[in-house]
Amino acid sequence: MNALSILRLGSVKDVARFKGHLRSLNLAIPCDDELLSAPDSPLRKTLTRGQIEIGNRIAVQPMEGWDGTADGSPTEATFRRWQRFGRSGAKLIWGGEAVAVSHEGRANPNQLLTAEHTTAPIARMRALLVAEHQKVTGSDAGLLIGLQLTHSGRFSRPNAHDRSEPRILYRHPLLDSRMHLPPDYPVLTDGEIGAIIEDFHRAAALAWKLGFDFVDIKHCHGYLGHEFLSAHVRSGNYGGSFENRTRFLREVVQGIRSVAPGLGIAVRLSAVDTVPFIPDPGRSSNRKPGPGIPVTGEELIPYRWGFGLNPLAPQEEDLTEPIQFLSLLEELEIRLVNLTAGSPYYNPHVQRPALYPPSDGYQPPEDPLIGVARQMEMTRKLKQRFPNLIIVGSAYSYLQDFLPHVAQAAIREGWVDMVGLGRMVLTYPELLWDASSGEPIQHKRICRTFSDCTTAPRNGLPSGCYPLDAYYRDSEAAQRLSVLKKR
Ligand SMILES: Cc1cc2nc3c(=O)[nH]c(=O)nc-3n(C[C@H](O)[C@H](O)[C@H](O)COP(=O)(O)O)c2cc1C
Ligand code: SF4
Repeated sequence: MNALSILRLGSVKDVARFKGHLRSLNLAIPCDDELLSAPDSPLRKTLTRGQIEIGNRIAVQPMEGWDGTADGSPTEATFRRWQRFGRSGAKLIWGGEAVAVSHEGRANPNQLLTAEHTTAPIARMRALLVAEHQKVTGSDAGLLIGLQLTHSGRFSRPNAHDRSEPRILYRHPLLDSRMHLPPDYPVLTDGEIGAIIEDFHRAAALAWKLGFDFVDIKHCHGYLGHEFLSAHVRSGNYGGSFENRTRFLREVVQGIRSVAPGLGIAVRLSAVDTVPFIPDPGRSSNRKPGPGIPVTGEELIPYRWGFGLNPLAPQEEDLTEPIQFLSLLEELEIRLVNLTAGSPYYNPHVQRPALYPPSDGYQPPEDPLIGVARQMEMTRKLKQRFPNLIIVGSAYSYLQDFLPHVAQAAIREGWVDMVGLGRMVLTYPELLWDASSGEPIQHKRICRTFSDCTTAPRNGLPSGCYPLDAYYRDSEAAQRLSVLKKR
């Protein structure tokens, strides 16, 4: 299948036809015919669980901009993005973006860093968001703002955008060769892991001082926290058994509770995964990658390098360990959970379904609606199993003009507690606020999943919506991106 055989949602004129299209694909995505306005809209209902109160059901997902300074401070572009997060009207800001706990753990040389010298500008970023939020919603009551703390592990690139400096937990037969790691490339020692855990404690103490409501201990997308969960082949204290693979989480939580006792703790989890995908070499040309195909092979079975997948059939999900992990979160009294899937590096169609691939990706191997349905269904199952957790769902942007109808139905039917918006926020932050206020939807501002916000950073440029946001469209970076895309 290539992109041409996928129906472009921008051409689907109304909800009835969209629902017909879902039926033709045999997808059980809930979708309401009519949008309700506040106070009746399910999207505008307050959520209360224990001590946590969130003023509506709209969440902004974390999204890095690759636009910080070399020493990890935000720039004007970062301030602008956080202001736009505030403009969304969302009462849950999940981390805003991944902020590294150490220089070595940065995913790119422009990622924000938690350090004494960045505290004042990070505080400003948060304050700008709150001020904008108050303008739109009239109040900051029920607004919860977190900071996503990360170490990029295997995907660290702290010093130059074209120089990968991976910190790995185990040798991965597919990703190591893709990254050209020599056979003697070192794995992190237990002692080095201990130092990283302390970095998380220090970073959380700073976040608390700055007034953030919670920190997210990131466990998704192939970064370090997520890699721990699949460290089956690692020996020592942090690999092998489920208990060992979750020791990192438990030690981070324990330390945070002692240095920042009032701070909330949350986890974003890639709950399911699959094997890495590559463009089909037989259907690729110099100018265009072929459709994605999974990397498989008899010698890889049982597959021992994944989490949330079936080791005997690693393209299939297996929720056994994700369920164990969510039970552990409950034991640790962590209530806020954000569910996502896969990784933007090795299976982007799973993580952020898109019609157009990023420059290091491949043509969609499936209708991207299947990717949306996969994440929604996985989230529904886990929500049913864990009614007391507050669960945020991901990967709604591909729904485009019908996102509000699906979001409203998903909340109303209890598939999820909060609808998290990623790429859509880059183009049209107010989409769900408008939709639940009875305002007309501005179709020209809808994200069409062109993936430039991923292609740009893959080529050392800041992330942003180059096609639809004039701030990026008219920038010098846009000219450079257009040259790069023509190569
Ligand atoms: C430009 C960009 C940056 C992202 N940065 C982060 C990040 O810092 N942390 C994270 O957990 N997810 C990150 N994501 C993933 C999104 O949070 C989200 O899971 C994904 O885009 C799918 O949601 P969507 O369909 O609404 O875009 C990023 C996505 C994009 C497009
Ligand atoms: S570049 Fe803009 S339209 Fe394309 S995926 Fe990103 S946010 Fe959406």
